[in-house]
Amino acid sequence: MYKHRAYCGELTVNDAGKDVLLAGWVDTKRDLGGIIFLEIRDVSGLVQAVFDSSKSADNARLADQTRSEYVVKLTGSVRLRSSDTVNPNIATGEIEVVADSIEILNTSKVPPFPLNTRDTISEEVRLRYRFLDLRREEMRDAIIQRSKVMQITRNYLSQNRFFEIETPILNKSTPEGARDFLVPSRINHGQFYALPQSPQIFKQILMVSGFDRYYQIAKCFRDEDLRNDRQPEFTQIDLEMSFVTQEMIMSLVEGLLRDIVYGVTGKEIEFPIAHLTYDEAMDRYGCDKPDTRFGLELKDCGDIFAESGFKVFSSALSSGGIVKGFAVEDEGRISRKMSDDYTEHVKIYGAKGFPMFRYKDGGFEGGISKFLSDEEKKAVIERFNLVNDAILFFSVDKPKIVNQTLANMRIKAARDLDMIDDNKLNFLWVTDFPLFEYSSEDKRFYSTHHPFTAPKDECLQMLDSIKPEDAGKVKAQAYDIVLNGSEIGGGSIRISSREIQSKIFELENIPEDEAKLKFSFLLEALQYGAPPHGGLALGLDRIMTLLLKRESIREIIAFPKTQKGQCLMSGAPSPVEREQLKELAIRVTETQ
Ligand code: AMO
Repeated sequence: MYKHRAYCGELTVNDAGKDVLLAGWVDTKRDLGGIIFLEIRDVSGLVQAVFDSSKSADNARLADQTRSEYVVKLTGSVRLRSSDTVNPNIATGEIEVVADSIEILNTSKVPPFPLNTRDTISEEVRLRYRFLDLRREEMRDAIIQRSKVMQITRNYLSQNRFFEIETPILNKSTPEGARDFLVPSRINHGQFYALPQSPQIFKQILMVSGFDRYYQIAKCFRDEDLRNDRQPEFTQIDLEMSFVTQEMIMSLVEGLLRDIVYGVTGKEIEFPIAHLTYDEAMDRYGCDKPDTRFGLELKDCGDIFAESGFKVFSSALSSGGIVKGFAVEDEGRISRKMSDDYTEHVKIYGAKGFPMFRYKDGGFEGGISKFLSDEEKKAVIERFNLVNDAILFFSVDKPKIVNQTLANMRIKAARDLDMIDDNKLNFLWVTDFPLFEYSSEDKRFYSTHHPFTAPKDECLQMLDSIKPEDAGKVKAQAYDIVLNGSEIGGGSIRISSREIQSKIFELENIPEDEAKLKFSFLLEALQYGAPPHGGLALGLDRIMTLLLKRESIREIIAFPKTQKGQCLMSGAPSPVEREQLKELAIRVTETQ
């Protein structure tokens, strides 16, 4: 009966004269004195169906009995609309279906919010009634596009000889550094599985097993604080390859991104994709995932102000601090009030102030300009290439605070001045990450990525005598891919030698027995002919959010969690029966 069902949104003028069977939901109903118009909606879109009571009173009566969201099935023939009744607001607006039968398959309660409006509806209500929210055009579009991207990914990777292989969800702890979600074992009391933070260890083992190209559209779980670009469970396009270089992996990923971007936006990525080393990114933008759609690059001014009479700068510099700044040609649009607000705002990044002054008509005015010598002013003009009037902002403190402050404030200023072109897609590779960070608190090195990341060959000998202050000098064969200031993926060449792996554990103060306990199977596997290998994982949710220009990651996930990690539709997480806890030998000692 449903064999020849037509899709509402796909009917065109070329179908005029055809008989069709439609099935879907009533979107809107209008009654024009004996003629009933129903807009019928299915997953493809809308089409108008017409019921004329003078032709069939029964059909018109049934059509009139429907309400919004009733489920109907109807047959009819496609007809061109007269020019005065064409509806330019819907894709099928040039045609309509003259119905000759209708059946009401199901009724519906009145939805708690209209499904055909672009008005803002509270997110809480939308998430509570997600089954209805997903019927709305923008959600439907997001989910369809997401499905398409998964298809494109599968096509591209299988054409490139990748195998799609599933790895376990019930796992031992994985090494991505976030908190694990734990699952208690009923048959091994007191023991827990960890949900995978990524398939990292298993994909490396697959390389040892000889599946030289692996991928998976993998669910990952991380119990971390949530933001607009983070979910506790999210999806990675995860891949690993043997016998490759970093460049080969990057170029393969570029091909995949090209197909994905084209599939979603119809746009071509501009090649070559820009590259920055981690050090360059930190120098020029203060962060390792810069938004390069606009300038406002940072300039280090330590040398200019080392001897400055302005003590705030010179004394910070002499005690190990740095001074960096950026210049904005704002055409006077940054008001006194705005720059005062900025001075308040920077406190959230740990900065004590946000010194500024203006360059105007070849001279300096306002803010701290009165403290600067002529020589310093001249050097500033040169450093920032000042030609037009501009406002300059500075940060002075420890490098971490300065970079964090300026990285965020350059984005804030660019947003406030509308300097960011929303239609641009600026991809950027960031390479040569430091292998470690040193924590003076814990007196040990920590991996910047994860402990299986290979150092660059030329840094290998440094591992034998590395000092804490030189932690940043040991570079890794690790790379991130950034889109418009968001980290959309990351990967590395892995360590395939047991000796180097042990050295890294030693430096990270991970005792051999702890390493064995956590990763023994990988360490063991590495001793049985591990090929050289490396890979990368793309954050599918983040890519979709950016390509579809959505405000939050929740807008491109069918059933997301709130910022508090809850599913408002199902009510998860929730208490469980005492009996269930007993079976698991678990007692809840306190609840919030
Ligand atoms: P990484 O931890 O960098 O690498 O993760 C890869 C990408 O996954 C996305 N991502 C997230 N997206 C949404 N919510 C989250 N909570 C979240 N956390 C990460 C990001 C990130 O770039 N095993 C390595 C990859 C490898 O080395 O091959 C890994 O997981 O876009």
